[in-house]
Amino acid sequence: MKQLKKYIDANRQRFVDELIEYLRFPSVSAQSAHKKDIADCARWLAGHAKSLGLRSRVHRTGGHPIVTAETPRRRNSAKPHFLVYGHYDVQPPEPLELWDSPPFEPTLRGRSLFARGASDNKGQHFAHLKAVEAYLKTGTELPCDLTFVVEGEEEVGGEALVEFLKQNKRELQCDGVVVSDTGMPDLKHPALTYALRGVAALEVKLTGPDRDLHSGIYGGSVENPAMALSKMLGRMINKNGSINVPGFYDDVIKLTAYERRQLARVPYSEAKYKKLLGVKALFGEKGFTPNEQRAARPTFEINGLTSGYQGEGSKTIVPSAASAKITMRLVPDQKPQKILRLVAKQLKALCPPTMRIEVDLGHAADPYIVSPTGPLAKAALKSLEASFGHEPVLLREGGSIPIVEHFSRILKVDTYLLGLALPDDNLHSPNEKMDLEVFTRGIWMSANLWTNLAEA
Ligand code: BES
Ligand code: ZN
Repeated sequence: MKQLKKYIDANRQRFVDELIEYLRFPSVSAQSAHKKDIADCARWLAGHAKSLGLRSRVHRTGGHPIVTAETPRRRNSAKPHFLVYGHYDVQPPEPLELWDSPPFEPTLRGRSLFARGASDNKGQHFAHLKAVEAYLKTGTELPCDLTFVVEGEEEVGGEALVEFLKQNKRELQCDGVVVSDTGMPDLKHPALTYALRGVAALEVKLTGPDRDLHSGIYGGSVENPAMALSKMLGRMINKNGSINVPGFYDDVIKLTAYERRQLARVPYSEAKYKKLLGVKALFGEKGFTPNEQRAARPTFEINGLTSGYQGEGSKTIVPSAASAKITMRLVPDQKPQKILRLVAKQLKALCPPTMRIEVDLGHAADPYIVSPTGPLAKAALKSLEASFGHEPVLLREGGSIPIVEHFSRILKVDTYLLGLALPDDNLHSPNEKMDLEVFTRGIWMSANLWTNLAEA
């Protein structure tokens, strides 16, 4: 272990330079203009893994390519086998004018490396790759066989990897999956995440008149679709912050007293939280702390709202239609398909007779939960503690990683989430960054992890 740490410390600067190279690819999965950048990025990653001595391939799919990289192994290896999952695709960088440096020109400021994808997720899985490099380049025997699986559609809820898991079940058979694509509260609180929220998406559209109308000639005699939609959506959340859909909470698993105590260990100050988010006041479901609300309770969120004239100046119309993009975050054991059905039914029930309504169902991902007390979880906690020098916290997290539930369903294995993103890393926002102290400790953590997991 000493030799590994020495190697990592000695090569830290080069690791950062390589991460910068990786971050230069604008691998934005949501935008078709970046199709070539996505392919180039996948090829670069596979090439890099190969240069470290891994057997790496780019797999073509119906969507964006998947990169796999295997550590060298004997034919009938008796070592435990783990998958390391990550995603090389990134969120769109817009709005560009809010970035202090261009999103795909990685820039160092202080201890942070700023770029789209820095912590979500290139920096996080790259840390694992660098730990494996340390084993291979120092001639230290890896106590486990590892297969990296890095996909290009995580940020768009793509299905290519699900198909890939089904088709390669045999080769991907393993003892567990390790993922660093979640958060940690701060450097003194490394975290093992044992639950993720799921997600379900839909779009609702109300149509009134069959074209935009002069609001002076006709306004007052027809209902305005923008107003009708606003009223409908306003009724979806109750006064106490809960969601007004019959049956919505039926399958929600209540937080146990143990979980509430664990979550309460996470440092929290209302003033700091408000400042971090730039809000005047907090809002949420009554009876739950903000950390509980954003990790262990479901939500109904309007992501986009469109109607009428949005251009310069004024335009006096009754718009023909209004629409909203909506996602719900779901918690164990809610089922996305059931929730979509219930929500669509409620939207239709709330629609006034003046409007035609269309509800289009979108992508969905199951929530995830795993026991945080098994032997592999303990090995993960031990590795976090060794590299960060502080006792880790157990977290439920609010974000979603759709494939994690498929690992348990298709490969029948648990996933351990060792997040390396800080709360102010600006995931999905302008000025995303990776803290380089976390990056380095993340590499140590990963180096420790393979030894601790093999022993467990
Ligand atoms: N890394 C995030 C998920 C995440 C972030 C989990 C922080 C926990 C804490 C991931 O890249 C992500 O953003 N996922 C999407 C999935 C969606 C598009 C289906 C999400 O959660 O919005
Ligand atoms: Zn993300």
